Amino acid sequence: MKILILPDQGDATIRAADMICESMAARARTVLGLATGGTMEPLYAELVARHRQGRLTFADARSFNLDEYVGLAPRHPQSYHSYMHRHLFAHVDFAPGATALPDGSAPDPDAEADAYEARIAAAGGIDLQLLGIGRNGHIGFNEPTSSLCSRTRVKTLTESTRAANARFFAEGEEPPTCAITMGLATILDARQVLLLAFGAEKAPAVRAMIEGPVSAFTPASVLQMHRRATVILDQAAASMLELREYYHTVHPDGAPALV
Ligand code: PGA
Repeated sequence: MKILILPDQGDATIRAADMICESMAARARTVLGLATGGTMEPLYAELVARHRQGRLTFADARSFNLDEYVGLAPRHPQSYHSYMHRHLFAHVDFAPGATALPDGSAPDPDAEADAYEARIAAAGGIDLQLLGIGRNGHIGFNEPTSSLCSRTRVKTLTESTRAANARFFAEGEEPPTCAITMGLATILDARQVLLLAFGAEKAPAVRAMIEGPVSAFTPASVLQMHRRATVILDQAAASMLELREYYHTVHPDGAPALV
């Protein structure tokens, strides 16, 4: 794992955008794995700004999002379809049909999950997968005790995840109880993964992911098994890491490796 600790979230977001641009420049028809959540909003704003400046095009790219709530139609304002449209797709130049999310309103969510996994494989797999991390160590909606070999499927959300996401829903509206999510093995198949975590509330999960044992109880710890995993943190999210000084030495302020 490459651990990059940046002075603050703004610097960290720029660094992540740089890595995405480098990855897209290196490959003509990049397949991006995209994520949702508060962490990604400034990153998508940065990508939109670069697109408007003529520095970044998505014209040849494809994308697959990690997850979608079961029971929310794509047009529902809190669906991840709507989120992606609001924060990225409406503002950049993906070709029609080049972006994909699981359909949370599919009549048979299990069949939809299997079909989504097959669509990713048919596209040749994911080149660069973006990830956030939940306070309980989830990635995508792979909640604690998710199989480390899991594929895209329906997962029941924990109460802590529903409580964390309640802030995005209107007052009186309950967050859904289930989601279709890429599995941990689906995520591990990506050729490169880039996880972002900011703020002190993520520090325990970040520590467990990087320095704890590989365990289904901390699903993000499975990234220890990935050959090209980069974690971008601000100081607060990195504050509980035992080897913080070492990571700083290898990548001062998140710079490329010294060796
Ligand atoms: P957040 O969510 O970016 O809103 O903190 C991350 C996650 O739960 O994966």
